[in-house]
Amino acid sequence: MCGIVGYIGDKHAIELLTCGLEKLEYRGYDSAGVAFIDENKLKIVKSKGRLNNLEEKLEVSPKHSHIGIGHTRWATHGEPSDINSHPHQNKKGNIAVVHNGIIENYLEIKEELIKKGYEFVSETDTEVIPYLIDMYYEGDLKESVIKAIKRLKGSFALGIMSLDEPDKLIAVRKDSPLIIGIGQGENFIASDIPAVIDWTREIYILENGEMAELTKDNVILMDFDGNPIEKEVYKVTWNIDEAQKGGYDHFMLKEIFEQPKVLKDTLFPRIGNDGRIRLDDIDTNSLDIENIEKIYIVACGTAYHAGLVGKKLIEKYAKIPVITDVASEFRYNNPFIDEKTLLIVVSQSGETADTLAALRLAKKKKAKTLAICNVVGSSIAREVDYILYTWAGPEIAVASTKAYTTQVVLLALLALYIADVRKTIDEDEYKKALEVLNSIPDDVEKILRSKSKLEDIASHLYKSRDIFYIGRGLDYYVAMEGSLKLKEVSYIHSEAMAAGELKHGTLALIEKDTPVIALATQDYLYDKVISNIKEVKARGAYTIAIAKEGNNEIEGVADLVIYIPDVINELAVPLAIIPLQLIAYYVAIQRGCDVDKPRNLAKSVTVE
Ligand code: G6P
Repeated sequence: MCGIVGYIGDKHAIELLTCGLEKLEYRGYDSAGVAFIDENKLKIVKSKGRLNNLEEKLEVSPKHSHIGIGHTRWATHGEPSDINSHPHQNKKGNIAVVHNGIIENYLEIKEELIKKGYEFVSETDTEVIPYLIDMYYEGDLKESVIKAIKRLKGSFALGIMSLDEPDKLIAVRKDSPLIIGIGQGENFIASDIPAVIDWTREIYILENGEMAELTKDNVILMDFDGNPIEKEVYKVTWNIDEAQKGGYDHFMLKEIFEQPKVLKDTLFPRIGNDGRIRLDDIDTNSLDIENIEKIYIVACGTAYHAGLVGKKLIEKYAKIPVITDVASEFRYNNPFIDEKTLLIVVSQSGETADTLAALRLAKKKKAKTLAICNVVGSSIAREVDYILYTWAGPEIAVASTKAYTTQVVLLALLALYIADVRKTIDEDEYKKALEVLNSIPDDVEKILRSKSKLEDIASHLYKSRDIFYIGRGLDYYVAMEGSLKLKEVSYIHSEAMAAGELKHGTLALIEKDTPVIALATQDYLYDKVISNIKEVKARGAYTIAIAKEGNNEIEGVADLVIYIPDVINELAVPLAIIPLQLIAYYVAIQRGCDVDKPRNLAKSVTVE
């Protein structure tokens, strides 16, 4: 989604802005632009497409500015184009604005401004903002911004500068993320920390309804009425290398290989020496686990697939009914929620608009809310009642991998914890599950060693038109995630089917050599899946099975078998998904796709 950067200090602003924008590329964008002051003029350079288009344009412009704002845009109102790109300015050209979010009432404001003689050049909602500031400007930029933002409905993170006050940047945050980097003799604004950590590790995380006035030596924090506020400085402890590729060709591959480590980070601090789960991060007493009557798990994309696994595990271990829903449906479905309902939202970024809206809805209806989230200080993390972090570290590749497996194991921990409190699990089963959870990071490591075999398998698949994934029970959910991974990065058409449902329609699409990847890790459904493999083979399919070590008879049925360590059914998911992640990656590479930044997709979807 859109990325904002801003700089004020003694260095060359444009260089810092473009570096910062590069670090925000992972958010997904279709155009980029910067505004800066040079030779006493406010100049704007913007370009559709990748950042290097912008950089090429900037090479022919002078670069002597010490103040500037920059933006990567992901189109919402108006197609991706140079004109619709940010920054936007007023007609006089002395005010420039970058914006992340959506102004819901922009049409109304636009009409009013047109009546007053303002002429609009873009199709964006954002353009009303520099015009409003212009209309209210009486010699004090901050005051005019305060008046302008009072008129806006919707979500907006803003970076604002003016030629008339060339020593000032204004930052505003409502419902879209924005941080301030505090430097020595320089200050920064950005949508996310990686954009500034090359220069500073001291950060203010703006909350909704907060804004700031930055000069090179000072940051004044205030609310939307201009009243000063105080904030703690957040010190970034992680290294920029963690947000870089670390020797791998792509972030996606790096993140797949980070899984043993991040699974340990997510699991081990929550398993005590006594072999029992401890969720010290939350006040479990006030969560009142004994009295929860119903659970909703709500999320989008990959996080939704993790939520489906969570449903099975909670129902199995904790015996509480669970409904898992995609957030964009849930929020309009009038869900049955009351104070005995627990809503669990799952989100890597913590900024997904639909998931956030689902959370707000559930809070309004008095449910208890808990988030499984990866980004500290994100909107969901701040608004939810209880937060359990997946310690997966920054996930840069658009296709989510390490966030998914950490979400799954954290949901497993939560299910077992609730079961333990409610005494719905016997001691042997609890101990067995914990023993398996403890060995998952090493088991993942073991599967990752078969990387070259999976690369080889991908070479049989990369020319396919369609690839089908089938499974039963938890394997069906793994199939859904495996299929999504493939679609996202390789653009091959793919469908995941409950294996027993195949014969009710989709089987018609199976023809000679159509690849079908069959998940067969659930012992009680193993024979059924074998029959389904035979069913597609009889129609000519090329079949690849994922099975547990020891289940060798499948070799006589499927064309190819990939084995994962033999673990209990309930905890096979974080293992079974690993070969599918690698197959998706290698297929995409062999097709020459831009794996880390697939077309049309964004890492963090902060609009509805
Ligand atoms: C986007 C991303 C997906 C992600 C989904 C939910 O579509 O491309 O990878 O699964 O959003 O994101 P979240 O940050 O809420 O997990």
